[in-house]
Amino acid sequence: AETHFLYWEVVTKEFTRNCGSVNITTVNGMYPGPVVNITEGDTVVVNVTNMQEYPVTIHWHGIFQFMTNWADGPAHFTQCSLKTGNSQIYEFIVSGQSGTFFWHAHNNWLRATMFGAFIVHPRDPPPNYGVEVAGEFSMISGEWFDTQPNDVEMGYLYRPIPVDTSKTANTLNGLTGPLYNCTPDDVPETQVFRVQNGSTYLLRLTNAGLNNNHWFTVANHTLTVVSVDGNYVKPFATDAVLIAPGQTTDVLLTANQTIGSYYGGVGLAQIPQVGPPLEAREALAIIEYEGAPADFPLSTPPFPAPSDPMVVDDYTAKVLGYTDMDLPETMDHNLVYVVGIALVDCIPSEPCTSTQKLAGTVQNFTFDEPQNSSVLEAYFYNISGVYETGFPELPPEFIDFTGRPSPEYGIGSRATLVKELEFNQTVELVLQNVNAAVMLDHPFHLHGHDFYVVGRNYGNFNQTTDPATFNLRDPPRFNTISVHSGGWVALRFRANNPGVWLLHCHFERHKTWGMEAAFITKNGTQLNETLPGPKHPLPPCI
Ligand code: C2O
Ligand code: CU
Repeated sequence: AETHFLYWEVVTKEFTRNCGSVNITTVNGMYPGPVVNITEGDTVVVNVTNMQEYPVTIHWHGIFQFMTNWADGPAHFTQCSLKTGNSQIYEFIVSGQSGTFFWHAHNNWLRATMFGAFIVHPRDPPPNYGVEVAGEFSMISGEWFDTQPNDVEMGYLYRPIPVDTSKTANTLNGLTGPLYNCTPDDVPETQVFRVQNGSTYLLRLTNAGLNNNHWFTVANHTLTVVSVDGNYVKPFATDAVLIAPGQTTDVLLTANQTIGSYYGGVGLAQIPQVGPPLEAREALAIIEYEGAPADFPLSTPPFPAPSDPMVVDDYTAKVLGYTDMDLPETMDHNLVYVVGIALVDCIPSEPCTSTQKLAGTVQNFTFDEPQNSSVLEAYFYNISGVYETGFPELPPEFIDFTGRPSPEYGIGSRATLVKELEFNQTVELVLQNVNAAVMLDHPFHLHGHDFYVVGRNYGNFNQTTDPATFNLRDPPRFNTISVHSGGWVALRFRANNPGVWLLHCHFERHKTWGMEAAFITKNGTQLNETLPGPKHPLPPCI
């Protein structure tokens, strides 16, 4: 196994997209940021120096951070943000997992421009897909804001009704593609992926966008899904791949059409989802066959993508895993968390435009992020007054969660409450979507673990009857799952990673509004079940 030493300078750089220039926060002046390419078992040491105005942290999305919780990165949870002029070293080993992941900033809205692919090649021979893979491409989608994203955040944060000051565009590998031309002379760059006729390629797809689900599709070609969130799935063919923010999907593409050039890329998936007024044009790249005649007409863009919720359900139902002995069968905890959007009372120190502001809630609590210590530092060093334990296992009230609106969940309250787990306990976590104000799906991400998705349905979760419908045979294993509007999902995982693990909606506006919760997994009895102290100094909190 190798050790990869990376030196990342966080710097401001001007980029022009969507007909305008913005000073954005970047790693090493790159947008998107550098691709990390490693092999399972390798060690990664990233020395981050913050050379611009905004405090920053970096998260390695989907990487377990087994025994290295300190390197996980979410601001307020495992560290305080790195301030201007300071450095921090993240060091961790990636083992027991391989596939497509990504890294991104994990404070404020900086991940809009600070993100990149994190690819872990399997140490054992790569899987046999039944076809030879000639090459691979990473395609990471995102959203471009015409204003500094941290300013966009402020338009959302302190208002009962969000104000969007920013026009936005979709991006693929940081480019908006040909549909965003401003003037005839201003042709934006379009990325070209070159393929050979008859060969098969692995496309590593990631949705690093902040607030929108994406469909990925390539004109005239069928895609075969082989992996999601770094876990192999039973291969299936599809015309379009649905990817929520925080999810990754690997697909195979065989260049088996007429030798030519074809558009491929991402378009918005409304499932349904009320997002900011994103310019709904697609971010396109070109798949060009070697030997394509120069005058070969480009395919028409393969959009609009499907918008019917049934298509989404059908897609989701096709994603199945392999039978796996890791699946917890008896549960130490049966948790039901209600997630939704509500209003919360403002406190005097906040620049609210009214007496209330929008809040994301879990169990009707909006997470109040501690400012003077991270949760992990408070836990590890026994600092009292930072958080409290006893996060409720069940909703305050079982109502009809699918009605709209649900006034019982219309007003949230603030708390810094966590749920404690004993080492190695098994957890079933049902996330029930409550439509307190609007119908929205919520892509939930759990740090430090993969979970099995054993159940999913519309309506109200019924603790007595629904478990009988669970798929305990071949549930898929993810780190991010879309909790669809008017329904629930049931997840299972084992708390085998000591530390503080964030659970949150990966739509940035919902996370900003406090749709966050956390687990603290205590140490086991053995030395190798005990979280050691930080390997490198953490950024000071004050
Ligand atoms: Cu993609 Cu909390 O992270
Ligand atoms: Cu959400």
